[in-house]
Amino acid sequence: MKGIILAGGLATRLYPLTHATNKHLLPVYDKPMIYYPIQTLVKAGITEVLVVTSGPHAGHFLRVLENGKQFGLTHLEYAYQSTSNGGISDALAYAEDFADSGPITVILGDNTTDADISKAVQTFKKGAKVFLKKVPDPQRFGVPVFENNKIIRIDEKPQKPASDFAVVGLYIFDNRCFDFIRTLQPSVRGELEVTDLNNKYIELGELEWAELDGFWTDAGTFKTLFKANEYWAASSTSYN
Ligand code: G1P
Repeated sequence: MKGIILAGGLATRLYPLTHATNKHLLPVYDKPMIYYPIQTLVKAGITEVLVVTSGPHAGHFLRVLENGKQFGLTHLEYAYQSTSNGGISDALAYAEDFADSGPITVILGDNTTDADISKAVQTFKKGAKVFLKKVPDPQRFGVPVFENNKIIRIDEKPQKPASDFAVVGLYIFDNRCFDFIRTLQPSVRGELEVTDLNNKYIELGELEWAELDGFWTDAGTFKTLFKANEYWAASSTSYN
């Protein structure tokens, strides 16, 4: 399985920090943020990775990640998304050639987790798989709507969440995702949403889910960036 890290966007919520560099290169304790999603992929046995980035600091990635050998990657590629605010599904569209007709594991560059998803990656066959985590503020995320333990719809940032789960920024898709992305329309915030892509798989009855086992947070706001820093500092042996 190949892996895609989506690391674009302007991250205006983190201005003025993101005037200095791309959000995914900001520090999370003792490492640039993107190290964490790379480690999640490597832990799952994924060593061929594409980083999709955009915006004014895209060039900074090369200097930090080089050719990825330091992480155990066998192949590291970069793609440049020309629209910084095109959305997650728009960014993912840039991965079609890299995917080379195969399935892909996709992780958002600002999601940090210590979960081990190797089994899900190894046993994946067809359709799509999403991972869920219980959160106190589901209205900030994609939120699953359940019927008899099955997800019948995902709502993106609903004012009245139907459950207290967030769909985390970690997905496995079969190669049809690229065809489905071509059918998507921009949402009210003007983006091609990953939630709309997931809803396509739900319509076909081909979306599976699992609760993510372990710590997880995004780091896209000052509050969650701080939370990520606290967690990774506390779990590091070099902290005390
Ligand atoms: C994005 C997705 C959302 C998902 C979240 C996870 O939100 O749109 O469905 O729950 O990532 O971090 P955004 O970071 O664009 O607010």
